[in-house]
Amino acid sequence: MLIEKNVPLQACNSFHIVAKAQSLARIACAADVQALVANPQWAEVPKFVLGGGSNIVLTGDLKAMVLKVEIKGRRLLQETAQAFIVEAGAGENWHDFVSWMLQQGYYGLENMALIPGTVGAAPVQNVGAYGVELQDRFDSLDAVDLQTGKLFTLNAAQCAFGYRDSVFKHASSKMGLAGRALITQVRFSLPKPWKAVLGYADLARKMAEANVVQPTAPQIYQWICDIRRAKLPDPDQIGNAGSFFKNPTVTPEQCADIIARDPKIVYYHLADGSVKLAAGWLIDACGWKGKSVGNAGVYEKQALVLINRGGATGGEVMTLAKAIQTSVYERFGILLEPEPVVV
Ligand code: EPU
Repeated sequence: MLIEKNVPLQACNSFHIVAKAQSLARIACAADVQALVANPQWAEVPKFVLGGGSNIVLTGDLKAMVLKVEIKGRRLLQETAQAFIVEAGAGENWHDFVSWMLQQGYYGLENMALIPGTVGAAPVQNVGAYGVELQDRFDSLDAVDLQTGKLFTLNAAQCAFGYRDSVFKHASSKMGLAGRALITQVRFSLPKPWKAVLGYADLARKMAEANVVQPTAPQIYQWICDIRRAKLPDPDQIGNAGSFFKNPTVTPEQCADIIARDPKIVYYHLADGSVKLAAGWLIDACGWKGKSVGNAGVYEKQALVLINRGGATGGEVMTLAKAIQTSVYERFGILLEPEPVVV
């Protein structure tokens, strides 16, 4: 395997921030990782696993060795009375995979169409959209231990999925696997019979417009693509990393206090009794839509998305993010937590 030097990363991160990797290895299979681990100096080499680069903010050149996951392949492993079990390589593009699944008749991922990134990055932050999260369609995954080179398999419980969270986001001191594992394959379980997930207001609107009561999976897929294209910027045209902040969770008392001051706030009750607030609404209410810091800006149609207006640095993106955090904190007493990994 060739280790490339001084590799430009602008095309490898969806924010299109200009930065370089001092060294980069293209990983096409688990054995490529094992070959690297076998090197006696490996333990001293800092590493950074890069998937589609759709959830990172690069604040400078990467000194760590970049392991760019390019593991391909997708296949039906098993069909039972209850489910299709389908496996995909971690380097497959997520949206291409979702589209392929629909074409094959394996339904269940349609609500997650057009999420940027790769299959291998999807479990790391338990991606989700329009009422379906990766964990709802997850079977298991394979990964390589970056210290020992050993292959291991995790089921859903072992991945410890949460809202935009998993074992892969937590440091090893807290029993996590951050920086410790490279995901190679992900297996999905698509329940039979297929059931549409239609709880979201945007989807209800599409159904009413089309006058359809029982939509098919391909119809939902098309609506999701239309909804996302209407309000989220296409990273190929405008650099961005999707939602920049997580939707914060508060107690019912905190929520009641905010409603008393701002009756229009958008919130959802969760099963555990807590309340989730729409971060996009909080940012919008602070007047950030369309604003900029240098070349980094807040998207005009969705305040939760920070964008690169052309030539933005990671520093500008983070200065903007901090200014947003401060103003939301000062007005609502809530500290927004960024979603992307800052490197
Ligand atoms: N809102 C505003 N102003 C804004 C943006 C949003 O008032 O500028 C309000 C909207 O009116 C809406 C509410 O906030 O009532 C929620 O907005 P939306 O339905 O667009 O969803 P979201 O909470 O902003 C989340 C996910 C998205 C996912 C959508 C749909 C997070 C952090 N984001 O966004 O995921 O596509 O729901 O399920 O949970 C991503 O993670 O990158 C992502 C795009």
